[in-house]
Formats: sequence, C-alpha cells, structure tokens
Amino acid sequence: MTARTAHPMLPVADHDEQAQQRFVLALKQHVSANVTAGNHAVYNARVLPAFTKAEGRAPRNRHEVRRWMEREPYHQMWGSLMRLGQELMWDYILESVDRQLDDLVTLSTPKPGVGGTLRLDPGFEQPRYLALVDQHGQPGSYYTDTRADDVRAGAILDQGAAIYHFGKAGGAMVDARGRTLVQHVFDAYPDLEPRRILDLGCCVGAGTLPLPEFFPQAEVHAIDTGAPILRYAHARAEHLGRRVHFAQQSAESLDYPDNHFDLVTSMVVLHETSTAALPRIFAECMRVLRPGGVMVHLEVPVRYPDMDSLCEQVLRDWQTYYNDEPFWGRVCETDLVAMAVQTGFADAVQGYQTQTLDPQRGATGWPNPPTSRPGHWYIVSARKPKG
Ligand SMILES: C[S@@+](CC[C@H](N)C(=O)[O-])C[C@H]1O[C@@H](n2cnc3c(N)ncnc32)[C@H](O)[C@@H]1O
Repeated sequence: MTARTAHPMLPVADHDEQAQQRFVLALKQHVSANVTAGNHAVYNARVLPAFTKAEGRAPRNRHEVRRWMEREPYHQMWGSLMRLGQELMWDYILESVDRQLDDLVTLSTPKPGVGGTLRLDPGFEQPRYLALVDQHGQPGSYYTDTRADDVRAGAILDQGAAIYHFGKAGGAMVDARGRTLVQHVFDAYPDLEPRRILDLGCCVGAGTLPLPEFFPQAEVHAIDTGAPILRYAHARAEHLGRRVHFAQQSAESLDYPDNHFDLVTSMVVLHETSTAALPRIFAECMRVLRPGGVMVHLEVPVRYPDMDSLCEQVLRDWQTYYNDEPFWGRVCETDLVAMAVQTGFADAVQGYQTQTLDPQRGATGWPNPPTSRPGHWYIVSARKPKG
C-alpha cells in the first residue's frame, strides 16, 4: 500500500501504521463492495412503497428520497460506517505523518532542483467555501500551517490519497487523473501542442505531474490556495524531476496576464468550490487562455442529470451532507457546458473519459462511454474562440 520507492516526500508507514492503514482500507472496501448495495434493497422494499403510499406519487428528486432514507436504520448504519472510515483514515495517517514530520520538512527543501519554483503569498485569505469546513474531514484541511515551513497537510493528503481511492487512482503516485486528462487532450484536441499550461487547484501536484511528462515542451504552472500543500507539491515535483512553477492564488482571481496559456486544466476541484465561484473560475480560464486555447476540467463521475436512480443519487450525495463537501451536490447538477458557453467558450463538450495510466495519441476516441460508469471521469472542455 505504501510504496517506499515512489518518491522521498511520501510518508512511509511503519509496521503498526501499515496494519492500521490496511485495516481502514479493508473497512472502506467492505462498505463499498458489500454494505452500500443494501441501501437499494431498503429503498425498493420500504422507502419507495411507503413514500408512494403517503404522498400518492413517486418521489420527484433526490432530496425527497434522502429525507425518507435517513429514517431507515440500515441507511443510518451505512452512513456511520462511511464516516467512521473517513475519520479512522485521517487519524491513522496523522499519527504516521506526525512521527516523521521533522524529516519531511527537512526533505522539502530540495537541494539539486530541476528548476521549478514556489511563490507563496503570506497575506493570502482562503475563499470562504474552503475556510468553512475541513474538506472531506481532513483535520486542518488543505491550508492549515502547524509550524514553520510546514508540509503536513500535503503529506497527509498524499499518504491518504492511495487509501481514499482504494489504490485505484494511480497507486502511490495518484496520477491517474492527470494521465486521463492528457488522454482527453490527445483525443479531443489532437492539434493542441501547448507551450504554456496552467493547472488550477493542483493540491500536492499528483494530477499535475503528467502534464510536463506528456507535454515536455511546455512551461507548466500550477496554483492552489494552501501553503503547506504547495510546499509539499513543490518538493515532491523536484524530487520526481518534474519542472513545475507553483503559486498560491485563487482560481477566481489569477495574477497571470491575459491570453497567456494554451491549456488550462483542473482535476476534481470544481466540486470543492461554490456555485458563486464557478462562473468566476470559468471567466478567469477565458481571460488567461490565448485565442484557440483549451480549458479542460476533470471531475468526479457524478452528474445527477445523467443518473436514473434517485436512490443512487442519494448515496452519492452523502458527500454533500456528511463528508464536508458542501457544494458537491450543487456542482454535480450544474450545467457546466451551458456555463462554458455563457462565458464565451466555443465547442464546449462533456462526457466520460475512460481512466488510463498510459495516455496514447489517437487511442480511445471521445466521449467514451455515454453515461457514468466505474473507472471513468467526467470531463467538460472547451476552446476559447480564435478571433
Ligand atoms: C481534491 S483537491 C485537487 C487534487 C488535484 N487537482 C489532483 O488531481 O491531484 C482540490 C484542490 O482544489 C483547491 N481549490 C479549491 N478552490 C480553489 C480555488 N478557488 N483556487 C485554487 N485552488 C482551489 C483546494 O485547495 C484543493 O487543493
């Protein structure tokens, strides 16, 4: 589970910590594979008939179903297990990271360097939607500094990511999102040869690093709001030999010039921003892209308008109410193509891109498949008109 050889910044779990982390991974896998499905049985056998009898009609939306499901003991048990899995995961990882934090801080001043840079803004204020909650239950979220030169939040996220995604998002490198986004660019914009790329909400840079790998001619920039994750991301990239220029700023108000980038990306960021922030982020993408440049947002493969089952929608919406992702539900139902068009983008497309670790030019076609399935990511992308 913890790959000792992935890169020097990745915390290494000792024997007991590995036992804890394997336990929580097994708990999460068990809940996902065996317990979650029981909710559908409860919905079909109890909730739907009771609702229909009481209301004289079928439920119209996931909010109605959620209120009824939440009265069911089985659903309550499932929700408790889900939350327990999250809390135990962070508790165990915190223990492991804190044991080795001094070493990680020392390692985070990369000595040889590959030419990447880090710009922090000591006066930066977190957007309200990030300051309100500790995202997905991580204590201190993405931005809390606990000491000088802190990298703790980044180390926690990096070690946690492999568990969070059951190891299916690219193993210890957690780079499947970045590789899948590159595949989308190859499929949907085969003519694009980006010279300057900007990745929004880069976090520890796991999704960012495939960008310099597959577009080696490009100057790659990456921004986020959290200082400790950016310090960690910079050190991680340098140790992995990838040149990236990191900066602390908000995707809602970037400090780059107009018409500067050929490609602007984000990966699983939009659902953590607010509905008010979304159009501002799209407007900034438009401003910093050169005419003909491309914006690509990769997101969780949950689009409520594409989902037939209201029960499944309720299960996905657990994130909104119980996993400290308050805007998940609203962003997952927002028409992002319409928003791109309103912002002035041309040829906006959306769909599901098959996850890949091995992007190839001209490989899979796009979109693929038509509806959300496990092993796919939702993508919305568009071009800035040429003139
Ligand atoms: C789930 S993480 C992204 C992971 C990363 N993109 C990857 O694929 O490896 C979401 C990130 O979005 C960042 N974020 C949220 N709102 C932002 C904003 N307005 N500007 C910049 N970053 C933002 C958070 O700080 C967090 O690091």
